[in-house]
Amino acid sequence: MRIILMGPPGAGKGTQADFLTKELKIPHISTGEMFRKAVKENTPLGIEAKRYMDSGQLVPDAVTVGIVKERLAEADCQKGFLLDGFPRTVAQADALDVTLRELGVKLNQVINLLVGRDALLQRLTGRRVCKSCGATYHVLYNPSAAGQKCQLCQGELYQRSDDTEATVANRLDVYEQQTAPLVAYYEKKGLLLNIAGNETVEAIAENILKVLGSEQG
Ligand code: AP5
Ligand code: MG
Ligand code: ZN
Repeated sequence: MRIILMGPPGAGKGTQADFLTKELKIPHISTGEMFRKAVKENTPLGIEAKRYMDSGQLVPDAVTVGIVKERLAEADCQKGFLLDGFPRTVAQADALDVTLRELGVKLNQVINLLVGRDALLQRLTGRRVCKSCGATYHVLYNPSAAGQKCQLCQGELYQRSDDTEATVANRLDVYEQQTAPLVAYYEKKGLLLNIAGNETVEAIAENILKVLGSEQG
């Protein structure tokens, strides 16, 4: 199964991807996570990416396409993959097309999570992430049972540096300008499936699995 999970910042891509990749036993490829790891490790990639991420801009296509291309060539992607947060521009989508053709594989589905702007703002500014295991929480919608610590590993919870109100507004604008055109792009290819993203995490996951199952026949 080769899937793209699309949707604006805060739509729940990471939350649903964690669930789906476990269920479908395929790797979870999040360009945002790859960049955050590089920032943490202070690699040349991280130093470059940070300049863009902190202001909510996209990392240049050439850089982003390069890391995804490398990742898709790894052995574990032969059984399929889920792309979270990539592609984000038409140029990235075209480059992905070329890469997949070179690998001799095709996308099965593009899932697009639909959530309104007000809800996105609330989700992003209330998000907390575990420093140790990366688990994602929300102060109101999905609080950790362990309070200020991660309920899975007791790790410390932190707020992403791009989840401040000013940066979030910019990220949503960047999405509208640069990424939203991909909805029509994948619709034209007959791959797009819209899923209401304003339900509970469990209900959304169930809907996605149902839709993927029926598309597989
Ligand atoms: P990235 O990390 O991809 O961020 P994003 O796309 O902005 O998306 P988020 O991770 O913020 O949201 P999400 O949809 O994963 O939501 P989540 O599940 O966490 O990218 C970060 C940056 O990296 C970019 O700005 C850019 O600079 C760079 N970058 C990355 N990819 C790039 C690319 N391809 N090209 C160029 N640059 C790139 O959920 C959010 C919150 O809501 C959580 O608190 C969660 O608990 C809560 N929540 C989730 N589901 C629900 C629900 N159903 N009900 C209530 N609350 C919910
Ligand atoms: Mg995410
Ligand atoms: Zn944890």
